Amino acid sequence: MEELYPDFFARFYDVIYHQVRDGVDNRFYLDRITECGGRILEIGSGTGRLLTEALASGADIYGIDISPAMLEVLGSKLPPEHRHRISLQNIVDFRSDTGYDLIIAPFRVFMHLMEINDQLKALNNVRSNLRQGGKFIFDVFNPDLKPLITGLDKVVDFDGEYEPGLSLRRITSTKPDLINQVINLTFRMEWNDGTSGRSSEWETPLRYFFRFELEHLLLRSEFSSFKISGDFEGSELSNESKEFIVTCFK
Ligand SMILES: C[S@@+](CC[C@H](N)C(=O)[O-])C[C@H]1O[C@@H](n2cnc3c(N)ncnc32)[C@H](O)[C@@H]1O
Repeated sequence: MEELYPDFFARFYDVIYHQVRDGVDNRFYLDRITECGGRILEIGSGTGRLLTEALASGADIYGIDISPAMLEVLGSKLPPEHRHRISLQNIVDFRSDTGYDLIIAPFRVFMHLMEINDQLKALNNVRSNLRQGGKFIFDVFNPDLKPLITGLDKVVDFDGEYEPGLSLRRITSTKPDLINQVINLTFRMEWNDGTSGRSSEWETPLRYFFRFELEHLLLRSEFSSFKISGDFEGSELSNESKEFIVTCFK
């Protein structure tokens, strides 16, 4: 199991990702949640970027995550009557009593599973926690070969403020590991806490999938059918596809 999302990353997650990610996937997942209308689970719910908005719109949504730091941020946003909805659990072996009509794992959660065995266990475990007719939706990126091969060297991908007058910068580097299909990511954050400059670094691997590998993996799972789209608008896969959005049907 890889290192978990640490405290400092969880602390600044919303400031960064509401800015860089909401415009990409927010509408898609919230629409799927609304059209489902049943009991929903978000796996890797993180700080609740999507879950809190879904809950505010009346969804019966639950969340699991393996990072205590991310869960703590989410817990602090929820009123006491909703805190039972979130728990510290792993996609590979989580349990539920009643099952779900829709399970989602938005924003690269599945790419944190390094081992094929865990990927298959996760798919089969999700399936066994779905009600008949239920769906599992997750996204991974379609590998962009050039940056994948060369890596990234200290790219500033956020430069702003986390509170009025308090600066935050994030510097991201990646090191390729082609034979293991892993990107080793290093996130460095530099911020001002009001009196002095602070910084911290976190390294984590991300496992990427090629199209047919993903199809073979899904075929080896207990899901009987699935569809892969190339973007959040539902386009067929093409050379322009930046995403693999997978919908598995039970
Ligand atoms: C990029 S964040 C996405 C958070 C949230 N879904 C969002 O869209 O903002 C990935 C999350 O997946 C969680 N995660 C990673 N591996 C997991 C696992 N095996 N089981 C459950 N959660 C996991 C991480 O702790 C992290 O909170």
